[in-house]
Amino acid sequence: MTTVRLFNNDCVESMKELPSDSIDFIITDPPYNLGNFMKNRATNLVKMRENFFGAAGWDNLDSDSWEYSMHQFFMESSRLAKKGSSMIVFMAVIKVETIIKIAEKYDFYYKTTGTWHKKNPMPRNMNLHFVNSTESWIYFTYKTRTGTFNNEGMVLHDFIETSLTTSKEKRFGKHPTQKPEELLSHFIKILSNKDDTVLDPFMGSGTSGVVSKRLSRNFIGIELDKTYFDIASMRIAEEENVSIET
Ligand SMILES: C[S@@+](CC[C@H](N)C(=O)[O-])C[C@H]1O[C@@H](n2cnc3c(N)ncnc32)[C@H](O)[C@@H]1O
Repeated sequence: MTTVRLFNNDCVESMKELPSDSIDFIITDPPYNLGNFMKNRATNLVKMRENFFGAAGWDNLDSDSWEYSMHQFFMESSRLAKKGSSMIVFMAVIKVETIIKIAEKYDFYYKTTGTWHKKNPMPRNMNLHFVNSTESWIYFTYKTRTGTFNNEGMVLHDFIETSLTTSKEKRFGKHPTQKPEELLSHFIKILSNKDDTVLDPFMGSGTSGVVSKRLSRNFIGIELDKTYFDIASMRIAEEENVSIET
């Protein structure tokens, strides 16, 4: 049986408690440092306000503090990652270059920047501009130029398209930037193997944990906010044969 460990804490603090050289795959979706930018573009639409991550409070750092937090995250990740392991970081396209420069300082080898396309985004101000329907993901390997890549002989593009997260996946509560299970499943299948240990230091509502568990990977998840941590715990506990250590 695979194991799950969940921490309701600042990720860097909890990462310090984990053993060096112990993680096979890091998949994470940190704050994009867009909160302050988005606040200036707040909306009157109630439906949008409910889902507005700029108001959630976890993406409020000024850009220097955010870069510092990313340095801390990559520094600890480089201690935890096994040589030859992989990492996927979701990111806003305008921050991709900043993240790559930081990652390279800590021995992560930059492989690819790809696009996640949302098939049914909220058509906000659709008559005024191009509707935002994409996010970026950045793929790294650690201290090697290749790692696990389970493509099963198929040509895999640097583009993935899914629908937005379904309401069924939000039945334990809402997270404003909850990723669809299908999206995380795509990367966890390709870049890790059964019984590997997957780490998500910015776990949010626990999507990476639900999928890791379903795919028979061990999982370590860290989330600062108690409300989101509780949603993640409930979602992961619902999977079969799960023993959660918190
Ligand atoms: C973009 S969301 C992740 C959403 C997640 N992928 C999901 O499917 O629900 C980023 C999360 O990081 C958390 N967070 C922000 N700073 C953190 C920190 N220093 N340590 C741990 N979690 C943090 C936020 O509370 C937020 O839930």
